[in-house]
Amino acid sequence: MESSLPSIVSQPVVASLTGSAIFLVVTVQPGAEAEAAIRALCADLSGLLRAVGFRDLEGRLSCVMGLGSQMWDRLFGAPRPKELHPFREIHGVHHAVSTPGDILFHIRARRMDLCFELAAQIMARIGEAAANVDEVHGFKYFDDRDLIGFVDGTENPVEQAAVDATLIGEEDAAFAGGSYVIVQKYLHDLAGWNRLPVEMQERIIGRAKLSDIEQEDALKAPYAHNVLTSIEEDGEALEILRDNMPFGDAGKGEFGTYFIGYARSPRRIEQMLENMFIGRPPGNYDRLLDFSRAVTGSLFFVPSATFLDDVAAAAGAPAAGEAAPPEPEAAASPGLRPSGGDGSLGIGSLKRKADHE
Ligand code: HEM
Repeated sequence: MESSLPSIVSQPVVASLTGSAIFLVVTVQPGAEAEAAIRALCADLSGLLRAVGFRDLEGRLSCVMGLGSQMWDRLFGAPRPKELHPFREIHGVHHAVSTPGDILFHIRARRMDLCFELAAQIMARIGEAAANVDEVHGFKYFDDRDLIGFVDGTENPVEQAAVDATLIGEEDAAFAGGSYVIVQKYLHDLAGWNRLPVEMQERIIGRAKLSDIEQEDALKAPYAHNVLTSIEEDGEALEILRDNMPFGDAGKGEFGTYFIGYARSPRRIEQMLENMFIGRPPGNYDRLLDFSRAVTGSLFFVPSATFLDDVAAAAGAPAAGEAAPPEPEAAASPGLRPSGGDGSLGIGSLKRKADHE
């Protein structure tokens, strides 16, 4: 059947894993001037990305921009994505905190200099509109291991399954091609973790540490990480796409994992978090949390690249008495619009499934 959805280009949520990443979470000053600066950036982002990324095409620079619930209301109001809300903290055996965050930039590349240059260009555009910034530089650690020593990312869906897990479809047609993302910064008690016998660590994760082979279901602990994060609906597995990265500061004894999960509904990730922090059933919680403390937690909506590029129109005319936002140059130039499959970097590189049918 022909899809009734218009041709929409998504942001590169389903970009392949890279060696470097920067996670930038920004809160934005109150006021029309700051909001105008952010609207201008939405429209300019694909141009910035092209300019920095073209300096090394092999570096595969990409950027995903997400907007928090309040930021959405401040910038665009109604209509709003159906499931967008602030991150809900969880008080279980462990505590999943909810921390401020208006915008997320998830910048990925093979080389850190590309990520850093794009982050610097973005921050230069945001300028005084930023009230606060949390910036984490993630790196690849040996064979895609996190700092607790386990390979992280193995069971991620790939190709079409990744698209199906992450991109909104007809369930919220006005925002089709968008996605939701939850981020949490975890700090590990690495000394405590490393004192555990490897067999115990493997029971906690549900996989062999060296070989990364999954334990047999019958032998897994009921609290294993991969048991508690496996969820189903009507017999179908509900998947998310993760791109966790290690980060740290050896001199300060800081060892962390930046968790980032994309899904077409935030409910999937929230269900996994409840299973981990409260337990399934309650009390049967994720022992990884005895050694890993979540120090941030935020939820964002990832609009399609098409939406971002057309943001001047989507924002509508300014309300009476409001200053008109400056004309975003990139949006005004047809040459900078992603045309879908146009060879542009990151943004515009992934078309929705419906486009191919
Ligand atoms: C300290 C933070 C975390 C660490 C170090 C961590 C580590 C891991 C590791 C080592 C695996 C096994 C390999 C793989 O399939 O990727 C895994 C699997 C997984 N994790 Fe995490 N994780 C963390 C937090 C989370 C959170 C917060 C969620 C979801 C809310 C999550 C969801 C998943 C899922 C869905 C899987 C795949 C399960 C399967 O189908 O086998 N993880 N994680």
